[in-house]
Amino acid sequence: MTGNVLGERFLVLSFGESHGKCVGVVIDGCPAGLPLSEDEIQQDLNLRRPGLSKVTSKRFEEDRVELLSGVFNGYTTGAPICALIWNKDVNSKPYEQMRKTPRPGHADLTAFWKYGGFNDWRGGGRFSGRITATFVIAGAIAKKLIHHTLDMEVLAYSIEIGGIKAREVLDEEIKRLRYLNEVRCPDLEAAEKMRMKIMEEESKGDSVGGIVECRVLNVPIGLGEPVFSSLESDLSKALFSIPAVKGIEFGAGFEASRLRGSEFNDPFIVKEGKTITPTNRAGGILGGISNGMPIVLRLAFKPTSSIKKPQKTINIETLKEVDLTVLGRHDPCIVPRAVPVVEGMVACVMADHSIRAGLIPQVIKAKV
Ligand SMILES: Cc1cc2nc3c(=O)[nH]c(=O)nc-3n(C[C@H](O)[C@H](O)[C@H](O)COP(=O)(O)O)c2cc1C
Repeated sequence: MTGNVLGERFLVLSFGESHGKCVGVVIDGCPAGLPLSEDEIQQDLNLRRPGLSKVTSKRFEEDRVELLSGVFNGYTTGAPICALIWNKDVNSKPYEQMRKTPRPGHADLTAFWKYGGFNDWRGGGRFSGRITATFVIAGAIAKKLIHHTLDMEVLAYSIEIGGIKAREVLDEEIKRLRYLNEVRCPDLEAAEKMRMKIMEEESKGDSVGGIVECRVLNVPIGLGEPVFSSLESDLSKALFSIPAVKGIEFGAGFEASRLRGSEFNDPFIVKEGKTITPTNRAGGILGGISNGMPIVLRLAFKPTSSIKKPQKTINIETLKEVDLTVLGRHDPCIVPRAVPVVEGMVACVMADHSIRAGLIPQVIKAKV
């Protein structure tokens, strides 16, 4: 299997399967001298853990991260960082059914076709949402790196679930409120409605999708390598690696197609000696290059495919059509657990491009 490495200068290699021994990550290119501890990474992982709320999978995993290399005396050494999580709460029995009768909407059938039946199908194997724990580990390190060196901040949060929309919220509120509720939405009134909607659909044996928005603050001007490594191209590639993502838009996004040039263009003005745009319909990126305004993007997540309602599928041995009721423990909505994953993936791309632009040195001078 190729395709498990992301980035050019901040390289992320993800490994492991849902019901294998572990899931983990190797990061090459993280500069030396970054203060880093398991506890810091753990804080981010705890935001993605299953089994802690009514709106997530009942699989209970501690998701305790172990740093195996690349960190010494509390600082990164410049050597590859290897970190992993041991899988503990594993029950592969329900997946024996899915081996022969693939889940509609999941990767069971395409994986079977591509790997000739040799892929680890237990718990969805490499196609499980569980592998995104490794994205969160890499993302926690990337977030620390870009915040410590460039004061950049990455904020992701839910703005829509099951058709229920959140109102617009200021950056300060987003920072304070988004992780205070189970659905990770900074509009607390909408958050409660979203939570109820997820539970209502789950009780009917169904699932819902939604939209995650992400903002990057304090972005340096000039990140992005046009044309094939433009900032939009690389962010899209990283974010489409998150399972269940079906769409991405930057700034005004698809709405831009309905506007005139005079309505869309962000005018340039000078404020306190800096060239800025008072509006940000471009989402902080022009020509694939950051313009110093906040990066704003949105991701559409599909409804979870593993639902209890009977669905039509085939038996891959007999090629007969059959009805399938999916067993096992599943998220009735992927959005709440995907929020820290989105933050992590965006941070990895921003770290990669900041190093490529020469803004982060090979050795960081510790602040203390
Ligand atoms: C955090 C997270 C948790 C997920 N949990 C589930 C789940 O419980 N059940 C499920 O069927 N899919 C879940 N998914 C989505 C599947 O992994 C995904 O739909 C599948 O691999 C097929 O890939 P695709 O949707 O990108 O085509 C989850 C995804 C993420 C990011």
